[in-house]
Amino acid sequence: MDKTHYNIDLGLRDFVIGKRIYHYTKIKSTQQLAISFAETNINNEHGTVIVADEQDEGMGRGKKKWASPIGGLWMSLIIKPKIEFAKLNMISVISAISVCEAINDISQLKTNIKWPNDILINEKKLAGILIDTNTNNSKNEYIVVGIGINIDVDIPKINSSIASNNILPTKVTSIHNEIKVTNIDRFILMKQLLGKIEFYLSLLEQNKYHAKIIEIYKKLSNTLGKRIIVYHEGLKEYSGIVKDIDNSGGLILERDDKLLEILYSGEITIREQKEK
Ligand code: BTN
Repeated sequence: MDKTHYNIDLGLRDFVIGKRIYHYTKIKSTQQLAISFAETNINNEHGTVIVADEQDEGMGRGKKKWASPIGGLWMSLIIKPKIEFAKLNMISVISAISVCEAINDISQLKTNIKWPNDILINEKKLAGILIDTNTNNSKNEYIVVGIGINIDVDIPKINSSIASNNILPTKVTSIHNEIKVTNIDRFILMKQLLGKIEFYLSLLEQNKYHAKIIEIYKKLSNTLGKRIIVYHEGLKEYSGIVKDIDNSGGLILERDDKLLEILYSGEITIREQKEK
């Protein structure tokens, strides 16, 4: 592991999110490092970002590996939330919206969100979000939002690493693969993204436009109205139809046995079930 880091200045000094950015060339995982910072008293300020050129042990949701070669935006953000406990799930919602909007601003690609926060284009995964929380211990509350965006990565290589690591493989893509240009600057994308997160987080903190945020999330969702299968730790649990998304980003599912269930992300994975 290369322990060298550089502080980078994206001109976000007047922001809270991204005021401090630690840039590493190669580390195990920005998520792991951000969690360890958040757990201690160093480099753990609200809004701190860790970004790496490549990760040896990138982590995905559900303990999966996340292939992170050079060519992507691999970053983790430490948030010390100033919002009530019931609204913490909204951090996942605003992160997903922010990733979609930032990608759209920079590349004009119209991505959508597979619940809770996979970012897709043409049904292929372009970006992923991993949220780690420690909000039980009132002295040291934090949320680490890990964001991985495939900008210009080798897709066949990533696909093969996913096939060997993932119980439920998903096709992946990259921004360059979708728009066939090779000039997306990951720091410009990151600046745009951090600006979006700053904006939406401040709305959450001020208790403003909650319904509007959910409306934006629903518009970007590709899961509403779909027939899905719910997996827990890779095993099929049940299936049903997605009726709505509730006020805190939970999925309202009408199960095949007609029970209504609200799903929050946790360890659940969903797959679309195509009609036969
Ligand atoms: C997912 O499974 O969809 C979430 C992927 C999250 C990957 C990012 S890359 C930056 C950060 N560091 C990690 O080790 N994981 C997250």
